[in-house]
Amino acid sequence: MLLITARHDANVARYGPFGHRLQALDSGVLAGQALTLLDAVGARPVAHTLFADEPLGRLLGLDPRAESVHVVVTSGPAGSPRPSRALLGRRSPRSGFETVPVPAAHLTGILDRAAAAVQLDPGPRTDLRTDLYCVAGRITGLAPGVHRRDPRSGRLEPVAPDARPRDLFPPGGPGELAGFESACAVLVVGDYERGYAAYGDRWYRMLNIRAGIVGQRLGLAAAHLRLGAGLRCDFVTAETDRLLRTSPRRTALLSALIGPERGSGTPSEHLVLTGDHR
Ligand SMILES: Cc1cc2nc3c(=O)[nH]c(=O)nc-3n(C[C@H](O)[C@H](O)[C@H](O)COP(=O)(O)O)c2cc1C
Repeated sequence: MLLITARHDANVARYGPFGHRLQALDSGVLAGQALTLLDAVGARPVAHTLFADEPLGRLLGLDPRAESVHVVVTSGPAGSPRPSRALLGRRSPRSGFETVPVPAAHLTGILDRAAAAVQLDPGPRTDLRTDLYCVAGRITGLAPGVHRRDPRSGRLEPVAPDARPRDLFPPGGPGELAGFESACAVLVVGDYERGYAAYGDRWYRMLNIRAGIVGQRLGLAAAHLRLGAGLRCDFVTAETDRLLRTSPRRTALLSALIGPERGSGTPSEHLVLTGDHR
């Protein structure tokens, strides 16, 4: 059993109410890493977001005002390892993206991997569903603009031709630059209202944890194709939802900018000249 906690005292102090969302997304990404690693050794892991918070926190000696368990990952015994090169290769594009196109087949391959069933309790309930949208910038064989992945057919359906990845971010900031350089932005979209009746306030956390798991998969799926993927949640949500034409209750939870990392294939650390060569 792996218990992932969030330090809400520190996160909310630093980020305000946004800290709740960020720490749920982060817990989801971490849970996603655990699921991937445990799955790679055949341990059949499951991530849980429904459990008795207070007794569990007490058991760990946590101060409930400061820290609480967000995700519990349960796992069977390890079987035979299935090593994957991409497990080692995933990384965020620290030097940005090269502004070159990516084939549409790469994008649909990434989306298919990210949309695969999530090993997340309470199972494949429809209210837990997240959708995938893509804002294409430089995708060969796909028109620029917003596309929605049909969960049944896996096909990308055009939504609106008038948006580019950079349009999702505050003008003049790092997000806009990253959006401009990326080949596309993938958005994980969910419904904040739908699960409230069943789960109450915890629903917000559950949905963002799920989005984090999907975000981690997007990064791994991109790495399989030697592409970089940068997770970002600093897009302007209202504007993004408007551009995506989401139905009124559905909203963008997390974005992944995808493209070939600048300088990929070259050493990431520059050689330091010493002695006579200085
Ligand atoms: C859920 C999540 C959201 C993030 N949001 C942002 C963001 O809005 N802006 C940003 O500059 N970095 C953001 N980051 C950080 C980067 O995407 C990246 O994870 C970080 O640079 C570390 O790189 P690494 O994951 O390859 O180690 C976010 C990371 C995560 C996990």
